[in-house]
Amino acid sequence: MTQQHPVHKAPFAVEWREGFCIGIDQLDREHRHLFSLVMMLNLGTVEQTVEQLLDYVVTHFSNEQEAMEKSGYPAFEAHLKQHEEFASQIADFLMGSDGWTEERVQDLRRFLNKWLIGHIMTHDMRFGKWLATKNRPAPDAAAGSGRTGLVGRLFG
Ligand SMILES: [Fe+2]
Repeated sequence: MTQQHPVHKAPFAVEWREGFCIGIDQLDREHRHLFSLVMMLNLGTVEQTVEQLLDYVVTHFSNEQEAMEKSGYPAFEAHLKQHEEFASQIADFLMGSDGWTEERVQDLRRFLNKWLIGHIMTHDMRFGKWLATKNRPAPDAAAGSGRTGLVGRLFG
């Protein structure tokens, strides 16, 4: 009797969705591109794609960090640590073995998708929301000198 090989698990492939948007156009475009690079990972071209991914991650992280620093984002340092932690996790993964197999490519893709989704939906989203609130004009300024303006003049 021939033994059946286990059926390959379906690749863990995540498409970009609108729900991943953090409301900052450039960063959303970059996140989207990261997803497409992760999607491209396959055994035949894994080394080139990993190379591209690492380059793009560096570019993206530095753009994102610059946006945070320039805007005076209070959680910048903590966010920087998240990026550093990612870099060390990916370095550990890549140094963990010298050969690529279908399974290892899937592991990498799974790790990247999970990390990206978790990070974007929690930490990058927090920055997007913070920036949107910061850039919103204060209600006072738009309303002119109403009651708030008077209170402000009396007690400000
Ligand atoms: Fe980030």
